[in-house]
Formats: sequence, structure tokens, C-alpha cells
Amino acid sequence: MKIKVPFSPPDITGEEISRVVEILRSGWITTGEKTRELERQLASWCQTNRAVCLNSGTAALELTLRLLEIGPGDEVITTPYTYTATAAAILHTGATPIFVDLAPGSMEMDPGQVEAAINSRTKAILPVDLAGIPCHYPAWIALAKGYNGDFSPRGKIQEALGRIAVIADAAHSFGGAREGVPSGSLADFSCFSFHAVKNLTTGEGGAVTWRSLPQVEDDWIYQRFQLLSLHGQNRTALEKSTGGWEYDILLPGYKCNMTDLAAAIGLGQLARFEEMQRRRMQRIDWYDQAFAGTPIEPLSHHGEGIQSSGHLYMVWIPGDEKRRNQVMETLKERGIMANVHYKPLPLLTAYRALGYKMERYPRAYERYQNEITLPLYSQLSGQQVAYCASALRELIPF
Ligand SMILES: Cc1ncc(COP(=O)(O)O)c(C=O)c1O
Repeated sequence: MKIKVPFSPPDITGEEISRVVEILRSGWITTGEKTRELERQLASWCQTNRAVCLNSGTAALELTLRLLEIGPGDEVITTPYTYTATAAAILHTGATPIFVDLAPGSMEMDPGQVEAAINSRTKAILPVDLAGIPCHYPAWIALAKGYNGDFSPRGKIQEALGRIAVIADAAHSFGGAREGVPSGSLADFSCFSFHAVKNLTTGEGGAVTWRSLPQVEDDWIYQRFQLLSLHGQNRTALEKSTGGWEYDILLPGYKCNMTDLAAAIGLGQLARFEEMQRRRMQRIDWYDQAFAGTPIEPLSHHGEGIQSSGHLYMVWIPGDEKRRNQVMETLKERGIMANVHYKPLPLLTAYRALGYKMERYPRAYERYQNEITLPLYSQLSGQQVAYCASALRELIPF
């Protein structure tokens, strides 16, 4: 019997729907009180003083880089094993992404190669919490602190940090933790995505949290994000609507604020988040059990000290890229919508045109060529997990 298994539909219930309807009826649908409420709840979840909501994870990354005044002439070290958003955000600011290959047997960058790539132009290290597993931030921060070559800070935040910043691409890791420290509190700045396939969705959306700096008030950082995300306007639309029309533009900013409609979905999701996470991790365990003792090698979501958000169920199968693509085709014929995370950036036209060469990142290629990401979401049924697992097992003889 053929069963249809989509890749990752959102888990939306009456909880989200009634909150959205309330906003639609309220007379205020753009950024307002619901966005502020979501920010307060996200900060509490991440154990930070503040959080700022934006309209995407890409905006979260880009505005964080802009807050840090990273731009032309600067370098940001990141992984080629990610989605284009990570590197595109760096490119948008005029800075240069410096790709570093994965460490042996790991999905994180190679620390030795990161160290070798650091120079006086390096302004940030940007690790990616692939599949929801928070990176080893204490080690990345120690590495940034350990660099004692030239570092000329630009702007208030870089000065306060006094070193290369560590920015988490935490697009996948909301709900994860390392040694009990939640994603959002691990790096200097953490950038979340609430895109439709993420564990917590607002349709499209994102947020930034940060570790407080002794020399810079959280409120200053928060206000700076507000300015950057809303045209540099000194008063929000809500303030204008209730307190008079006049405003000033303090800088030619961007436009990437979250709406109260999106925030209402997020608040509904947060109210159900623990239960959604429990179901997600249970499905990971079911898959893990089905693949135990087979040549199908799943990414472990259970490393020491790691609490994964369980965002993606990634497996590696024996064989090469061609074989993997054949297997994916057969899965599709059987109604299973699998995916690949990720096609390393140097394999993509835009990055090849910028001069990045795949040959320089052999470990990223090796991890990509036989990787398959299976459907995973909180409403996936036991029957669907069993169907996907046995379809893949049948295709991989052992
Ligand atoms: C690793 C990674 N970084 C950044 C992003 C960007 O997030 P958004 O789609 O919310 O802009 C994504 C989105 O899928 C992602 O997977």
C-alpha cells in the first residue's frame, strides 16, 4: 500500500487559528503588542534579557551583522555545509564569507582550519546548528578569545566584545541546548528562523537573542534592531497610530519587522512547543530503532551534553551521489518526500561564480553525496515512520 508522506507540513491546530482570528478581528495586524509578547516569551525560553522578532531568519542574520557594523573589507568565517541564507546574509553586507571545511567525523567546522583562516579582517565566526544540534559554542568563543593578532573593532558592539564575534545560525536549533544552556544563550548572538518547516513556525519569521554585554545596554541593542528593521524610523507604526503622526528617519534602514499576525501563530506554537518537541524526539527514536544494525547511518541527536531540537532526520546510505539520487527517486515514487541537507554552497551556480571551489571542501562533499533527509514532523504517524523506514531499508541491501 502506498502512503503519502510530505516532508514537513506545519503542525497547526485550533490554538494558532483562534489566536490569528483574534488578531484579524482586533483592528491591528502589523507589528504591535503580540510581537512584543512573543519577544518576551522567546527571551524567557532562551534565558536572555531580550529577544527581537523579525520577518525571517535571513533578516535575523543580516541585521545582526549590520548591528555589528560588519561590511566591505571584513571577513566572516562560516561553513559551506549550509543553506544559502547563511552566506547570502554575509554577502549582502558587503563582507566576504570564508568557508571552512567540516572537521573529520563531525558536521561542525574544523577548528584547526578556522584558526588558520582568522586574520585581521575576520570580524565573526558563524557556526550553523545543523539539524537542530547546537554547535560547540564554548569552544568557538574560546577560539575567538584566543586570537591575539590584530583586531580593529568597528562600532559599539565590536568594541564592547573586544574580539571576533561568534554568531549562531540557530535557524534549526530553537528548543535545543548544550550542557543545559539553551540555544539562544550559547553564542554572542543567535539567529532563529520560524519558516514554515521549522519546529516552531510563524509562517515566515525569525528572531535574534544575545548574551548581554556589560558595556552596552540590552535596550540599546533592542532599539538598534528596531531602527534597522523598520526603515530607521524613530517611532513605530503603533506609536504613530496612537500618539500623533510625526516621525523622523534616523538612518536609511531595512524593512523586515514581524507582524502581529505572524506573532500570534508563534504564540500558539510556543504554548504547544514542549508537546510538539516530545513528539518530534519520539519519532527520531522510532527511526533510530528501525535503522539500528543496518548500513543506514543516522545523524545522532543524542551526543553527550547535547539536547538537540531534533529539526532534521538525516541519514547516510552506502554509495555515491548517483546512487543516493536513485534512492530518492524511488522514495518519491512511493510517496515519500525526502530532501537533501545540504548541497554545499560551492556546488551552486552563484557561489561557483564567486570563485568558491568544491575541491577545497572534500569533507563537506563527502557528507553531502550520500545524505538523505527523511520526513520528520510532530504529526507524522507511527505508521508513516514505519513506512518510510522500511522503504529505505528495502532499497539498501545488507
Ligand atoms: C541553516 C539556515 N540558515 C538560515 C535560514 C534562513 O531562514 P529563513 O528562511 O527564515 O530566512 C535557513 C532557512 O531555512 C536555514 O536552514
